Amino acid sequence: MSSAKTTILVTGGAGYIGSHTVLALKQAGYEVIVLDNLVYGHQDLVEKVLQVELIIGDISDRSLLDNLFQNRNITAVMHFSAYAYVGESVKEPAKYYNNNVVATLNLLEAMQAAGINKFVFSSTCATYGVPDVVPITEEHPQNPINPYGATKLMVERILADFDVAYNLKSVRFRYFNAAGADPEGRLGEDHTPETHLIPLVIFTALGKRDSISIFGNDYPTPDGTCIRDYIHVTDLADAHVLGLEYLLKGGNSEVFNLGNGHGFSVKKVIETTKQVTGKDIKIVECDRRPGDPPVLIGSAKKATTILGWQPQYSSLEDIIAHAWQWHQKRHN
Ligand SMILES: NC(=O)c1ccc[n+]([C@@H]2O[C@H](COP(=O)([O-])OP(=O)(O)OC[C@H]3O[C@@H](n4cnc5c(N)ncnc54)[C@H](O)[C@@H]3O)[C@@H](O)[C@H]2O)c1
Repeated sequence: MSSAKTTILVTGGAGYIGSHTVLALKQAGYEVIVLDNLVYGHQDLVEKVLQVELIIGDISDRSLLDNLFQNRNITAVMHFSAYAYVGESVKEPAKYYNNNVVATLNLLEAMQAAGINKFVFSSTCATYGVPDVVPITEEHPQNPINPYGATKLMVERILADFDVAYNLKSVRFRYFNAAGADPEGRLGEDHTPETHLIPLVIFTALGKRDSISIFGNDYPTPDGTCIRDYIHVTDLADAHVLGLEYLLKGGNSEVFNLGNGHGFSVKKVIETTKQVTGKDIKIVECDRRPGDPPVLIGSAKKATTILGWQPQYSSLEDIIAHAWQWHQKRHN
Protein backbone atom coordinates (compact mmCIF):
# COMPACT_ATOMS: atom_id res chain seq x y z
CA MET A 1 0.00 0.00 0.00
CA SER A 2 1.29 3.46 -0.83
CA SER A 3 1.35 5.44 2.37
CA ALA A 4 3.21 8.53 1.21
CA LYS A 5 0.31 10.96 1.55
CA THR A 6 -1.56 9.40 4.43
CA THR A 7 -1.63 11.78 7.39
CA ILE A 8 -1.97 10.43 10.91
CA LEU A 9 -2.81 12.50 13.98
CA VAL A 10 -0.93 11.21 17.02
CA THR A 11 -2.25 12.49 20.34
CA GLY A 12 0.31 12.24 23.13
CA GLY A 13 3.06 11.89 20.50
CA ALA A 14 5.47 13.87 22.68
CA GLY A 15 5.33 11.15 25.35
CA TYR A 16 7.23 7.89 25.72
CA ILE A 17 5.31 5.36 23.61
CA GLY A 18 3.82 8.01 21.33
CA SER A 19 7.24 9.39 20.31
CA HIS A 20 8.58 5.93 19.48
CA THR A 21 5.47 5.30 17.39
CA VAL A 22 5.89 8.62 15.57
CA LEU A 23 9.38 7.46 14.61
CA ALA A 24 8.00 4.13 13.32
CA LEU A 25 5.26 5.94 11.37
CA LYS A 26 7.79 8.30 9.80
CA GLN A 27 10.02 5.39 8.85
CA ALA A 28 7.00 3.68 7.25
CA GLY A 29 6.40 6.79 5.10
CA TYR A 30 3.43 8.41 6.85
CA GLU A 31 2.95 12.11 7.43
CA VAL A 32 2.49 12.70 11.13
CA ILE A 33 0.95 15.54 13.13
CA VAL A 34 1.47 15.38 16.90
CA LEU A 35 -1.11 16.91 19.24
CA ASP A 36 0.17 17.13 22.81
CA ASN A 37 -0.49 19.56 25.65
CA LEU A 38 3.06 18.91 26.96
CA VAL A 39 1.81 18.20 30.49
CA TYR A 40 4.22 15.27 30.37
CA GLY A 41 5.51 15.40 26.80
CA HIS A 42 8.79 16.73 25.44
CA GLN A 43 8.68 19.41 22.76
CA ASP A 44 12.31 18.91 21.71
CA LEU A 45 11.80 15.23 21.02
CA VAL A 46 9.06 16.02 18.52
CA GLU A 47 10.51 19.11 16.89
CA LYS A 48 14.25 18.45 17.01
CA VAL A 49 14.68 14.68 17.14
CA LEU A 50 11.63 13.49 15.21
CA GLN A 51 11.29 16.70 13.15
CA VAL A 52 7.54 16.35 12.98
CA GLU A 53 4.84 19.01 13.27
CA LEU A 54 3.76 19.57 16.86
CA ILE A 55 0.47 21.23 17.77
CA ILE A 56 0.57 22.21 21.41
CA GLY A 57 -2.98 21.78 22.59
CA ASP A 58 -5.42 19.66 24.53
CA ILE A 59 -7.69 16.95 23.19
CA SER A 60 -10.50 18.45 25.26
CA ASP A 61 -10.40 21.57 23.04
CA ARG A 62 -13.22 20.89 20.58
CA SER A 63 -12.68 23.95 18.40
CA LEU A 64 -8.99 23.10 18.00
CA LEU A 65 -9.95 19.57 16.93
CA ASP A 66 -12.67 20.78 14.54
CA ASN A 67 -10.21 23.18 12.91
CA LEU A 68 -7.58 20.51 12.60
CA PHE A 69 -9.94 17.93 11.11
CA GLN A 70 -11.44 20.47 8.68
CA ASN A 71 -8.16 21.88 7.44
CA ARG A 72 -5.87 18.87 7.36
CA ASN A 73 -6.43 15.68 5.46
CA ILE A 74 -6.24 13.34 8.46
CA THR A 75 -7.03 9.70 7.72
CA ALA A 76 -6.65 8.14 11.16
CA VAL A 77 -5.98 9.02 14.78
CA MET A 78 -3.59 7.24 17.15
CA HIS A 79 -4.53 8.10 20.69
CA PHE A 80 -1.77 7.89 23.30
CA SER A 81 -2.65 10.91 25.41
CA ALA A 82 -3.85 10.03 28.89
CA TYR A 83 -2.82 10.15 32.52
CA ALA A 84 -1.27 6.85 33.54
CA TYR A 85 -0.24 6.91 37.20
CA VAL A 86 -2.19 4.16 38.96
CA GLY A 87 -1.61 5.49 42.50
CA GLU A 88 -2.61 9.03 41.53
CA SER A 89 -5.77 7.67 39.87
CA VAL A 90 -6.84 6.21 43.23
CA LYS A 91 -6.31 9.55 45.00
CA GLU A 92 -7.64 11.80 42.21
CA PRO A 93 -10.13 9.77 40.16
CA ALA A 94 -11.92 12.86 38.78
CA LYS A 95 -8.71 13.97 37.09
CA TYR A 96 -8.46 10.56 35.41
CA TYR A 97 -12.10 10.25 34.35
CA ASN A 98 -11.91 13.77 32.90
CA ASN A 99 -8.72 13.37 30.91
CA ASN A 100 -8.92 9.70 29.96
CA VAL A 101 -12.66 9.36 29.35
CA VAL A 102 -14.36 12.77 28.93
CA ALA A 103 -11.57 14.28 26.82
CA THR A 104 -11.33 11.09 24.75
CA LEU A 105 -15.07 11.23 24.13
CA ASN A 106 -14.59 14.80 22.92
CA LEU A 107 -11.92 13.59 20.48
CA LEU A 108 -14.14 10.77 19.22
CA GLU A 109 -17.10 13.10 18.72
CA ALA A 110 -14.92 15.51 16.76
CA MET A 111 -13.71 12.61 14.60
CA GLN A 112 -17.27 11.48 14.03
CA ALA A 113 -18.34 14.99 13.01
CA ALA A 114 -15.44 15.16 10.55
CA GLY A 115 -16.09 11.68 9.13
CA ILE A 116 -12.76 10.21 10.32
CA ASN A 117 -13.38 6.62 11.29
CA LYS A 118 -10.05 4.93 12.05
CA PHE A 119 -8.69 4.96 15.58
CA VAL A 120 -5.83 3.20 17.33
CA PHE A 121 -6.15 3.24 21.11
CA SER A 122 -3.67 2.69 23.96
CA SER A 123 -5.46 0.45 26.41
CA THR A 124 -3.76 -1.52 29.14
CA CYS A 125 -3.43 -4.86 30.89
CA ALA A 126 -4.70 -2.95 33.95
CA THR A 127 -8.20 -3.46 32.48
CA TYR A 128 -7.90 -7.16 33.40
CA GLY A 129 -7.34 -6.55 37.10
CA VAL A 130 -6.10 -9.59 39.02
CA PRO A 131 -5.98 -12.42 36.46
CA ASP A 132 -7.56 -15.83 37.04
CA VAL A 133 -5.11 -17.46 34.62
CA VAL A 134 -1.85 -16.52 32.90
CA PRO A 135 -0.85 -15.95 30.19
CA ILE A 136 -3.75 -13.53 29.84
CA THR A 137 -5.57 -13.68 26.51
CA GLU A 138 -7.93 -11.06 25.12
CA GLU A 139 -10.93 -13.16 26.23
CA HIS A 140 -9.97 -12.90 29.89
CA PRO A 141 -12.65 -11.01 31.89
CA GLN A 142 -11.89 -7.34 32.45
CA ASN A 143 -12.23 -6.32 36.11
CA PRO A 144 -9.94 -3.33 36.72
CA ILE A 145 -8.97 -2.75 40.35
CA ASN A 146 -8.12 0.96 40.07
CA PRO A 147 -9.61 4.07 38.42
CA TYR A 148 -6.85 4.19 35.80
CA GLY A 149 -7.77 0.72 34.51
CA ALA A 150 -11.46 1.61 34.72
CA THR A 151 -10.98 4.71 32.53
CA LYS A 152 -9.32 2.62 29.83
CA LEU A 153 -12.03 -0.04 30.00
CA MET A 154 -14.68 2.68 29.63
CA VAL A 155 -13.03 3.96 26.47
CA GLU A 156 -12.89 0.41 25.13
CA ARG A 157 -16.66 0.20 25.67
CA ILE A 158 -17.25 3.61 24.07
CA LEU A 159 -15.27 2.40 21.05
CA ALA A 160 -17.37 -0.75 20.72
CA ASP A 161 -20.55 1.37 20.84
CA PHE A 162 -19.17 3.95 18.37
CA ASP A 163 -18.43 1.14 15.94
CA VAL A 164 -22.03 -0.13 16.05
CA ALA A 165 -23.60 3.32 15.88
CA TYR A 166 -21.16 5.34 13.76
CA ASN A 167 -18.96 2.76 12.00
CA LEU A 168 -15.85 4.01 13.82
CA LYS A 169 -13.28 1.24 13.37
CA SER A 170 -10.71 0.87 16.13
CA VAL A 171 -7.77 -1.22 17.14
CA ARG A 172 -7.53 -1.39 20.91
CA PHE A 173 -4.08 -2.42 22.11
CA ARG A 174 -3.82 -3.67 25.68
CA TYR A 175 -0.18 -3.15 26.55
CA PHE A 176 1.72 -4.90 29.28
CA ASN A 177 4.74 -2.97 30.67
CA ALA A 178 6.37 -0.81 28.03
CA ALA A 179 10.13 -0.68 28.55
CA GLY A 180 13.42 -0.06 26.78
CA ALA A 181 14.28 2.67 24.31
CA ASP A 182 15.00 3.24 20.65
CA PRO A 183 17.95 0.86 19.89
CA GLU A 184 19.75 3.74 18.12
CA GLY A 185 19.49 5.95 21.22
CA ARG A 186 17.41 8.73 19.63
CA LEU A 187 14.44 8.40 22.01
CA GLY A 188 13.73 6.90 25.40
CA GLU A 189 11.67 6.96 28.54
CA ASP A 190 11.53 10.32 30.29
CA HIS A 191 8.72 10.32 32.82
CA THR A 192 8.58 12.74 35.75
CA PRO A 193 7.77 11.34 38.21
CA GLU A 194 9.07 7.91 37.18
CA THR A 195 7.29 4.90 38.66
CA HIS A 196 8.34 2.08 36.32
CA LEU A 197 10.71 -0.58 37.61
CA ILE A 198 13.37 -0.69 34.87
CA PRO A 199 14.14 3.07 34.81
CA LEU A 200 14.11 3.14 38.62
CA VAL A 201 16.65 0.31 38.76
CA ILE A 202 18.73 2.16 36.17
CA PHE A 203 18.55 5.39 38.22
CA THR A 204 19.96 3.34 41.12
CA ALA A 205 22.77 2.06 38.89
CA LEU A 206 23.49 5.65 37.86
CA GLY A 207 23.65 6.78 41.51
CA LYS A 208 20.53 8.97 41.15
CA ARG A 209 18.80 6.87 43.82
CA ASP A 210 20.35 5.18 46.84
CA SER A 211 18.50 1.90 46.50
CA ILE A 212 15.70 0.02 44.81
CA SER A 213 12.80 -1.34 46.86
CA ILE A 214 11.41 -4.81 46.36
CA PHE A 215 7.80 -4.89 47.53
CA GLY A 216 7.24 -8.43 48.76
CA ASN A 217 9.61 -11.40 48.62
CA ASP A 218 7.09 -14.07 49.64
CA TYR A 219 4.90 -14.32 46.54
CA PRO A 220 4.20 -17.78 45.11
CA THR A 221 6.83 -17.30 42.37
CA PRO A 222 10.21 -19.07 41.97
CA ASP A 223 12.22 -16.29 43.67
CA GLY A 224 9.34 -14.86 45.76
CA THR A 225 9.12 -11.54 43.85
CA CYS A 226 6.41 -10.38 41.46
CA ILE A 227 6.63 -11.35 37.80
CA ARG A 228 5.74 -8.89 35.03
CA ASP A 229 5.71 -8.89 31.25
CA TYR A 230 7.99 -6.23 29.70
CA ILE A 231 7.57 -5.30 26.07
CA HIS A 232 10.18 -3.32 24.17
CA VAL A 233 8.81 0.08 23.19
CA THR A 234 10.13 -0.28 19.62
CA ASP A 235 8.21 -3.54 19.22
CA LEU A 236 5.17 -1.77 20.63
CA ALA A 237 5.62 1.04 18.09
CA ASP A 238 5.92 -1.44 15.21
CA ALA A 239 2.68 -3.11 16.29
CA HIS A 240 0.93 0.27 16.06
CA VAL A 241 1.97 0.71 12.44
CA LEU A 242 0.62 -2.78 11.70
CA GLY A 243 -2.61 -2.00 13.58
CA LEU A 244 -3.02 1.18 11.56
CA GLU A 245 -2.42 -0.64 8.28
CA TYR A 246 -4.92 -3.31 9.30
CA LEU A 247 -7.55 -0.55 9.63
CA LEU A 248 -6.46 1.20 6.42
CA LYS A 249 -7.00 -2.08 4.57
CA GLY A 250 -10.59 -2.16 5.86
CA GLY A 251 -10.13 -4.34 8.95
CA ASN A 252 -12.91 -4.59 11.51
CA SER A 253 -12.52 -3.31 15.05
CA GLU A 254 -10.28 -5.60 17.08
CA VAL A 255 -8.55 -5.84 20.41
CA PHE A 256 -4.99 -7.13 20.79
CA ASN A 257 -2.74 -7.74 23.76
CA LEU A 258 0.80 -6.48 23.26
CA GLY A 259 3.22 -8.24 25.56
CA ASN A 260 6.38 -10.28 25.56
CA GLY A 261 4.75 -13.59 26.43
CA HIS A 262 7.52 -14.09 29.02
CA GLY A 263 7.52 -12.84 32.55
CA PHE A 264 10.51 -11.54 34.47
CA SER A 265 10.65 -11.25 38.25
CA VAL A 266 11.68 -8.06 40.05
CA LYS A 267 14.87 -9.82 41.21
CA LYS A 268 15.62 -10.94 37.65
CA VAL A 269 15.25 -7.35 36.40
CA ILE A 270 17.67 -6.12 39.08
CA GLU A 271 20.18 -8.94 38.41
CA THR A 272 20.08 -8.32 34.66
CA THR A 273 20.55 -4.57 35.18
CA LYS A 274 23.61 -5.32 37.32
CA GLN A 275 25.03 -7.48 34.52
CA VAL A 276 24.24 -4.99 31.74
CA THR A 277 25.55 -1.93 33.60
CA GLY A 278 28.37 -3.53 35.57
CA LYS A 279 27.17 -1.49 38.60
CA ASP A 280 26.25 -2.61 42.07
CA ILE A 281 22.61 -1.96 42.97
CA LYS A 282 21.49 -1.71 46.59
CA ILE A 283 18.22 -3.51 47.31
CA VAL A 284 15.78 -2.78 50.16
CA GLU A 285 13.25 -5.54 50.81
CA CYS A 286 9.84 -4.16 51.88
CA ASP A 287 6.36 -5.52 52.58
CA ARG A 288 3.97 -6.35 49.77
CA ARG A 289 1.96 -3.44 48.31
CA PRO A 290 -1.81 -3.91 48.27
CA GLY A 291 -3.22 -4.75 44.84
CA ASP A 292 -0.05 -6.18 43.25
CA PRO A 293 -0.92 -9.49 41.53
CA PRO A 294 1.93 -12.05 41.84
CA VAL A 295 2.15 -12.75 38.09
CA LEU A 296 1.05 -10.72 35.06
CA ILE A 297 1.97 -12.21 31.71
CA GLY A 298 0.16 -11.54 28.46
CA SER A 299 -0.37 -13.67 25.42
CA ALA A 300 0.13 -11.65 22.23
CA LYS A 301 -0.54 -14.59 19.90
CA LYS A 302 -3.53 -12.84 18.39
CA ALA A 303 -1.40 -9.85 17.30
CA THR A 304 1.22 -12.14 15.79
CA THR A 305 -1.43 -14.16 13.93
CA ILE A 306 -3.74 -11.40 12.69
CA LEU A 307 -1.34 -8.45 12.34
CA GLY A 308 1.79 -10.46 11.50
CA TRP A 309 3.58 -8.73 14.38
CA GLN A 310 7.05 -10.14 15.10
CA PRO A 311 8.72 -8.60 18.17
CA GLN A 312 12.45 -8.11 17.59
CA TYR A 313 13.66 -7.31 21.08
CA SER A 314 12.06 -9.81 23.47
CA SER A 315 15.12 -10.45 25.61
CA LEU A 316 15.34 -8.66 28.94
CA GLU A 317 19.03 -7.97 28.20
CA ASP A 318 18.14 -6.02 25.04
CA ILE A 319 15.35 -4.10 26.78
CA ILE A 320 17.63 -3.07 29.66
CA ALA A 321 20.67 -2.40 27.46
CA HIS A 322 18.69 0.01 25.26
CA ALA A 323 17.18 1.76 28.29
CA TRP A 324 20.66 1.99 29.86
CA GLN A 325 22.12 3.53 26.69
CA TRP A 326 19.39 6.20 26.70
CA HIS A 327 19.61 7.06 30.38
CA GLN A 328 23.41 7.20 30.36
CA LYS A 329 23.27 9.67 27.49
CA ARG A 330 20.62 11.76 29.23
CA HIS A 331 22.31 11.92 32.60
CA ASN A 332 25.84 12.57 31.37
N1 LIG B 1 3.94 3.08 29.74
C1 LIG B 1 3.31 1.92 29.87
O1 LIG B 1 3.90 0.91 30.29
C2 LIG B 1 1.86 1.80 29.47
C3 LIG B 1 1.20 0.57 29.68
C4 LIG B 1 -0.13 0.46 29.29
C5 LIG B 1 -0.78 1.52 28.69
N2 LIG B 1 -0.14 2.70 28.53
C6 LIG B 1 -0.86 3.81 27.88
O2 LIG B 1 -0.11 4.26 26.77
C7 LIG B 1 -0.26 5.66 26.57
C8 LIG B 1 1.09 6.33 26.50
O3 LIG B 1 1.80 6.06 27.72
P1 LIG B 1 3.22 6.74 27.96
O4 LIG B 1 3.94 5.90 28.94
O5 LIG B 1 3.85 7.07 26.66
O6 LIG B 1 2.76 8.08 28.70
P2 LIG B 1 3.36 9.57 28.60
O7 LIG B 1 2.87 10.30 29.79
O8 LIG B 1 4.82 9.53 28.34
O9 LIG B 1 2.63 10.15 27.30
C9 LIG B 1 1.33 10.68 27.32
C10 LIG B 1 1.36 12.00 26.58
O10 LIG B 1 0.02 12.53 26.52
C11 LIG B 1 0.08 13.93 26.75
N3 LIG B 1 -1.26 14.31 27.24
C12 LIG B 1 -1.88 13.92 28.39
N4 LIG B 1 -3.11 14.44 28.45
C13 LIG B 1 -3.30 15.16 27.31
C14 LIG B 1 -4.38 15.92 26.78
N5 LIG B 1 -5.53 16.07 27.46
N6 LIG B 1 -4.24 16.53 25.57
C15 LIG B 1 -3.08 16.41 24.88
N7 LIG B 1 -2.02 15.70 25.33
C16 LIG B 1 -2.12 15.09 26.53
C17 LIG B 1 1.20 14.12 27.74
O11 LIG B 1 1.74 15.43 27.70
C18 LIG B 1 2.22 13.05 27.25
O12 LIG B 1 3.12 13.60 26.30
C19 LIG B 1 -1.15 6.14 27.72
O13 LIG B 1 -2.47 6.21 27.23
C20 LIG B 1 -1.03 5.04 28.76
O14 LIG B 1 -2.18 4.95 29.54
C21 LIG B 1 1.16 2.87 28.90
